[in-house]
Amino acid sequence: MTEAELYTTYKGVFVPSAVHSSQSLKYYEEFTFRPDDILIVTYPKSGTTWMQEIVPLITSGGDPASVETLHCWDRVPFLEETRASLLNLEQRPSPRMFTTHFHYNMMPPSFSEVKPKVIYVMRNPKDVFTSSFHYYEMATFLVNPGPQSEFLQKFLDGKVIFGSWFDHVKGWLNVDEKQPIMYISYEEMIMQDLKDAVTRIAHFLEKPLDAEVIEKIADRCLFKNMKQNDKSNYSEVPREFMDQTKSEFLRKGVAGDWKNQLTPEEVEYFDVVYKDKIKDVKYKFVWD
Ligand code: A3P
Repeated sequence: MTEAELYTTYKGVFVPSAVHSSQSLKYYEEFTFRPDDILIVTYPKSGTTWMQEIVPLITSGGDPASVETLHCWDRVPFLEETRASLLNLEQRPSPRMFTTHFHYNMMPPSFSEVKPKVIYVMRNPKDVFTSSFHYYEMATFLVNPGPQSEFLQKFLDGKVIFGSWFDHVKGWLNVDEKQPIMYISYEEMIMQDLKDAVTRIAHFLEKPLDAEVIEKIADRCLFKNMKQNDKSNYSEVPREFMDQTKSEFLRKGVAGDWKNQLTPEEVEYFDVVYKDKIKDVKYKFVWD
């Protein structure tokens, strides 16, 4: 099926129609934030689910009840998705935790007024591309990626769900100076000790934790352990939506898999586009 059949264009970017209705987008636009809300923001395939495991474990002081009983999409719901309006989010106790894949300039009015805490997770776009390629193959509500070279062009042109990686990252790197925001990359969480990342996130969330609790959280969130959590590995999503026999949702969980995916010519082309698109960005990405 084509983009026209599977996607809705919202504020200039594609969103999968299967989980974004006009009512859900209206709910999102009218959503009222609280100052102590925590919002995980990502471009898809950048480590969203990982952060949806880490943050609730931090806010609960290490109590695994919510990650063991609630699916990640109910635990830290995507505000723009149809499910959000069914979850009675207005009744949830603080600190509430949400997720969004939207760009900064797509945020609703209450977001700019209230300025809840944002954790923005970034990942090397070559790995985002690689992870997306496999994800688009297994998720039936997304347009089949087709040949890799074609999907690469779509990805670099932002003709994929949630638009351009470059626009997403540039927008969120350039937020209002009063916006509380923590930037963290997938690579920092993979290559450095996960305990350090958990400590930094806990500090940002003003939730100091004992070393022992940090250690437990970090251990639980290691790829091999998190992969066993049926509430976070999407194994309970019916196969008609996600066929994990084609590719698992928690697929490889490494940095640098693009080296196994892209041809030398594709890498060269990617680098040319990348350099041009981020030439004005001052932020130092860990993968550069
Ligand atoms: P790969 O496809 O490269 O394995 P998102 O949650 O934003 O959709 O991102 C999914 C990607 O994050 C997948 O990447 C997935 O395996 C990876 N991921 C999820 N949990 C992880 C963890 N605990 N450690 C490392 N990577 C993880």
